Amino acid sequence: MTLVPLLAPSLLAGDHAALGDSAAAVTAHGLEWLHVDIMDGHFVPNLTFGPEVVAALRRRPELASTFFDTHLMLDEPQHHVEAFAQAGSNLISIHIEPDYDHRATLARIRKLGCQNGIVLNPATPADRVRDLLPAVDLVLVMTVQPGFGGQSFRTDMMPKIEQLAAWRQELNLSFRLEVDGGVDLKTGPLCRAAGADTFVAGTAFFTAPDRAAFAATVARW
Ligand code: DX5
Ligand code: ZN
Repeated sequence: MTLVPLLAPSLLAGDHAALGDSAAAVTAHGLEWLHVDIMDGHFVPNLTFGPEVVAALRRRPELASTFFDTHLMLDEPQHHVEAFAQAGSNLISIHIEPDYDHRATLARIRKLGCQNGIVLNPATPADRVRDLLPAVDLVLVMTVQPGFGGQSFRTDMMPKIEQLAAWRQELNLSFRLEVDGGVDLKTGPLCRAAGADTFVAGTAFFTAPDRAAFAATVARW
């Protein structure tokens, strides 16, 4: 299964005093996906924004048809999926590491009308999500320890991506395989070769001297 490469710029690297403008700068390049990082100060040692911010972004005319790829880095995501669905998220991804009913929460996300995703931290082996693969729209492999933008990419995550891509083929599934953390024009192609198709880029996108060229390059991967 080879899905077309999709770039999902991460708003975390945008201007937090002008998030709407930063998000609009993404869609100005014809990009459909926007990656929105939600942190709770517990599961990760940092805080970002909540559903009100997502709802406010959704109200911006330039973002009316943007695909909000919402990455919940929360200890108890089950209590928040409804709020993010109502705020206008299109996809809501939740981590496998905290202890809650993953399967029920993934089902709930779909019931709320969104696509769902399951996320693995660098230390989490692929096996942890194997049984859930038929029940998800996206698997997100973290290529940094989540919590902060601008960290160095972990090349040791490539076997995990390869394993998930192999299971996708074996099981005849079609979930998207996303990577997040330190993804740039050098590290992205490694992920693509390993089987990834959806590329979150925060720092690399927002600091690119030519964002249009960056987006065009990813589209050719
Ligand atoms: C990290 C977040 C990422 C982050 C990536 O916890 O999940 O989405 O924004 O930022 P870069 O691309 O700068 O590593
Ligand atoms: Zn993220």
